[in-house]
Amino acid sequence: MMNNPKIFDKAVHEFDSVVGKHKLVHESDLHHLNYIKACVKEALRLHPIAPFNLPHVTTADSTVAGYLIPKGSHVMVSRTGLSRNPEVWDDPLTFNPDRHMKGNKEVMLTDHNLHTFSFSTGLRGCPGVLWGSTMTTMLLARLVQGFMSELPPNERGVDLNENLHDIASGFSQSSPASTYLSHSTQCLTLAEKVIYTFIT
Ligand code: HEM
Repeated sequence: MMNNPKIFDKAVHEFDSVVGKHKLVHESDLHHLNYIKACVKEALRLHPIAPFNLPHVTTADSTVAGYLIPKGSHVMVSRTGLSRNPEVWDDPLTFNPDRHMKGNKEVMLTDHNLHTFSFSTGLRGCPGVLWGSTMTTMLLARLVQGFMSELPPNERGVDLNENLHDIASGFSQSSPASTYLSHSTQCLTLAEKVIYTFIT
């Protein structure tokens, strides 16, 4: 949002018209802060906390998009592969909260169509989704309320491009995992790098 002051200003404008300048934002206001929620959803889409979901094991033979996934397979879903899929999202690498605004419809951070994978879905989906959504939206709302954010003088932007070689380098260069990671994770967040370092 610091890279794009228009987005920040739009969030401030929404905040001022919904909550005003004379009280602290309350949980009951969050339903009406649709644009701020769209900013959170877009941040989770573009920069998920980790590149892959926790592994799950299939309990029966399944077919997904024509591929047979045999019973007992370990399945790891690529969050970035889903949430940056150019067949689903226009201009997927651009931070654009407006893509989640659908008229007056309330923006929900969950996505049961699996166009993003922030909280997963189904029986093993995140049970803390309400708590997580509320805390994250409240955090951004309070930052927007309490602070003006802008780039330091002489800075042209915050570089959010992550180095995909860091995550791929742990695998042998010729391994399928290395190739897959190179193709599927265009950008890795700092958090992803930390988690990756931790597991290798
Ligand atoms: C923005 C905040 C959060 C995000 C993005 C998030 C995301 C996720 C995701 C993607 C999973 C994996 C689901 C799967 O394996 O298919 C998960 C699992 C889980 N989450 Fe969250 N979560 C958040 C906050 C929370 C909070 C606040 C709690 C508890 C208070 C929580 C409790 C859990 C638990 C217990 C599981 C394991 C569920 C299971 O394996 O059956 N999460 N979460």
